[in-house]
Amino acid sequence: MFKIPASTLFLGKNLVDLPECDSTNTYAANLTSSSDPPEGTIVITSRQFLGRGQRGNTWDSQPEANLTFSIILYPRFLAPASHFILAQAVSLAVWDLLFSLGVTDVAIKWPNDIMVDDKKICGILIENQVRGQVFSQSIVGIGLNVNQVEFSTPNATSAKLVTGHSQDLNWMLSELLRQVEIRYLQAKQRPARLVSEYLDHLYWKDESHQFQSNGTIFKGIIEGVDKDGRLRVRQDDERLSTFAAREISYLR
Ligand code: BTN
Repeated sequence: MFKIPASTLFLGKNLVDLPECDSTNTYAANLTSSSDPPEGTIVITSRQFLGRGQRGNTWDSQPEANLTFSIILYPRFLAPASHFILAQAVSLAVWDLLFSLGVTDVAIKWPNDIMVDDKKICGILIENQVRGQVFSQSIVGIGLNVNQVEFSTPNATSAKLVTGHSQDLNWMLSELLRQVEIRYLQAKQRPARLVSEYLDHLYWKDESHQFQSNGTIFKGIIEGVDKDGRLRVRQDDERLSTFAAREISYLR
């Protein structure tokens, strides 16, 4: 059972706490199509059995060990073309939370994976709805590994593994929602600052690495992200290319 956070103004004041569900994003989407939940409604479960990830992947999470939840937002202040600001705001909120726990090597792997020591600790799935010229709804799904210590993949980690001790799930939720609320307001009021902070914490930025796109492997340097959220990579031959999430993978 999760408690309604005392730390926020509107995030989590309406808390839908489910003993189990397939996917909190799917549940939240059904909720918005069948009713009119207030902005900031949280759908959370301790046991998500069909979690969805980016690019059609699944998201597995050990029951009772981690945070798996979705936030319902109505970011009507954003032009649909500026949707990536939301991904930047939520990524930075997770970054802030981990940093406040004393975790130092935290980085945001574009577009919105949170990494600690080159391992993924948090995944974010944002599903947007645009009506005409209005950004009408966004469901922000967050999977944060908190107390899980064994994973089926070698490149995953958790807050417990990186801090050396268990974390209180309720406290983590409350603190994360507080940080998301701050960053969401920043996206509204001072988006330029948010964009530059996102770039400050971007994984592999200004380093030479290998990537793969369209069956071709190449070396390049991440220079940043454009306003549409496309990754800007300077290739070895000095050509600057931009990529959408499905168009590039990181090799090493
Ligand atoms: C990814 O990195 O691929 C994104 C993972 C997002 C997982 C979260 S868990 C809560 C919410 N519900 C889902 O089905 N997915 C997101």
